[in-house]
Amino acid sequence: MDKDKNKPLELLKEVNNRFVTACIFHREQRDLFCFLAMNGFEEWHNFQYVSESREQLLVKKFIIEHYVVAPQDEIPESANVLAPLIGTKRRTKLKSDQRWSIVKQSWESYLRWEKDTLAVYSSVAKELFDFGDIVAYNFISEIVGDVNEEIAEVTNTLLDMIGYDWDLSQISAVQDTIAEMRIFMLRELYKNY
Ligand SMILES: [Fe+2]
Repeated sequence: MDKDKNKPLELLKEVNNRFVTACIFHREQRDLFCFLAMNGFEEWHNFQYVSESREQLLVKKFIIEHYVVAPQDEIPESANVLAPLIGTKRRTKLKSDQRWSIVKQSWESYLRWEKDTLAVYSSVAKELFDFGDIVAYNFISEIVGDVNEEIAEVTNTLLDMIGYDWDLSQISAVQDTIAEMRIFMLRELYKNY
């Protein structure tokens, strides 16, 4: 009985902990593209890191105010992005086919990560609805909408890169435009704070 009563709190804790890992995921992706000297993708993930860090704090605030407890974050050692892709390689020693493969794998893993995240949050939203916690359901539904938007952006960018046939010179040529857009989005985020 008690366990069932705590179900919405347990679901929200699951969302909070996924957000913690999401922030580490974007930070590692940001570091990866900094390493590859691709400023557009670096700023992309920098924006997501900042934006999702803020959202995670809002999730935590919701938990504290709605369930009157402050659970500790479960912080993973890493999001497993950097280590498998670059290990201890030096940028100066990277061959162009290695660079190409790292960019492709990282974007494919990004789409996978967001799709898995959507599945987790959607299932949490459904369970909250079934449980009857409509306030929490509405809160998580907004987050589900944000993840859907991010998936659309990632898919569009992936389609662009497939359109370039993953040609690194074309991908490098759009980096400044992407960086400009993401820096603008970051400034807007703070403006509306
Ligand atoms: Fe994300």
